[in-house]
Amino acid sequence: MNLHVKTLDPATLSFGQKQVQLPVVEGTENELGLDISRLRAATGMVTLDEGYVNTGSTRSAITFLDGEEGVLRYCGYPIEELCANCDFVEVSYLLIYGHLPTQQQLNEFQHSIRKHTLLHEDMRSFYSGFPRDAHPMAILASVVSAMSTFYQDSLDPTEPEQVDLCVRRLIAKLPTIAAYSHKKSVGQPFMYPLNELDYVENFLQMMFAVPSEGYEVDPDFVRALNLLLICHADHEQNCSTSTVRMVGSSNANLFASIAAGICALWGPLHGGANEAVVEMLNQIAADGGNVKKYVAMAKDKSQGFRLMGFGHRVYKNFDPRAKIIKTACDKLLAKRSIHDPLFDIAQELESVALNDEYFVERKLYPNVDFYSGVIYRAMGIPVQMFTVLFAMGRLPGWIAHWKEMHTSDGNRICRPRQIYTGPTQRPFVPINAR
Ligand code: CMC
Repeated sequence: MNLHVKTLDPATLSFGQKQVQLPVVEGTENELGLDISRLRAATGMVTLDEGYVNTGSTRSAITFLDGEEGVLRYCGYPIEELCANCDFVEVSYLLIYGHLPTQQQLNEFQHSIRKHTLLHEDMRSFYSGFPRDAHPMAILASVVSAMSTFYQDSLDPTEPEQVDLCVRRLIAKLPTIAAYSHKKSVGQPFMYPLNELDYVENFLQMMFAVPSEGYEVDPDFVRALNLLLICHADHEQNCSTSTVRMVGSSNANLFASIAAGICALWGPLHGGANEAVVEMLNQIAADGGNVKKYVAMAKDKSQGFRLMGFGHRVYKNFDPRAKIIKTACDKLLAKRSIHDPLFDIAQELESVALNDEYFVERKLYPNVDFYSGVIYRAMGIPVQMFTVLFAMGRLPGWIAHWKEMHTSDGNRICRPRQIYTGPTQRPFVPINAR
């Protein structure tokens, strides 16, 4: 992958009597960055950027997004074209290996994933230790972390063959781990993977089949789920991906790094928003469907309430994923003649918010999580599983970034600095004198 950047004329930073030249770098899509890697050595200063709003933490050749224009591309391919032409496994290959696979490469990849779908039998026993109402994201993170105890032959981040085995194990087993967490919550027997099925079919089978009845996978649901997983597959340096990179930078193994990413994704400001959106829509419905009341609440800072599924750190025009998902949602509900009152509320909420000065001024648009929940509901997926599906989708992106970090020249442990604001040195006070 090309991680080289063009260097332009330097910028000059003046501070007191001092002047420093800072290189300006340009990426392949003409994004400009101030290279401050020598800043502290030259000036003794660090930068302060809470929430990393202005910080480019790395060079990366995986995903490009332009928040002003609503553009998202994986390895140069527009998200719209990938959704129209690929399934999730092909997109996973693209992200992880940096190029679209030939038919032969895709066959080999699919075959090796199929070979790894089973969990070690002893791993199943973990599930009996979790409480029945455990959140599936907690189970997912725990079981993925525990994979490092079962698959000790694929833990070395410096051994490409081990890394590749670990990658395939993760991609293959995550749907099994996820589906088992659902089966646990409803008290049904776990369904083993059926390797004649493809990736998404297999997941739906493990989620919804029971041993006492036949189960036919619904092709409309397979199509919709493939699309959702593709839309979630990568999003450059978001919170969970940065977490995976951060943990991986200490040379922690891939299972441990991905488990950390799952935990980061769980929060309602990140992947957990899809669950929070449906909870919010349910709350609005139970409260008589008064959408305007909730928009007013979201504008009133004293309420501590936000419209979930609205706003994005990077997208300030529209989120292209939300557009794709809304269209898929319209199609699926119409085809299956499903009337979901929450979809009506979501549409009304979108229209009220988009015409409200507060949201217009702050450029707050529906994001990827706003309509995904309505599709998941149509498939019968329980709300607690929504973020788990986000994790399944994001897995190839996390892996791609972890691998990119390990193979790039500038690879160092991630270790930000701070501006200390605590007490200056003071004498220790013995306990009896405090
Ligand atoms: N409802 C009401 N006000 C909002 C919202 C919202 N959903 N989002 C942002 N704002 C306001 C915020 O109060 C602030 O107002 P002011 O300038 O008056 O202080 C302004 O908009 C900027 O917000 P911010 O919190 O500084 O923006 P951020 O970039 O730090 O946060 C965000 C981005 C996605 C965390 C935020 O928009 C949010 O909390 N959205 C709701 C949660 C959500 O849907 N998250 C999913 C994100 S997309 C999936 C993913 O990749 O994780």
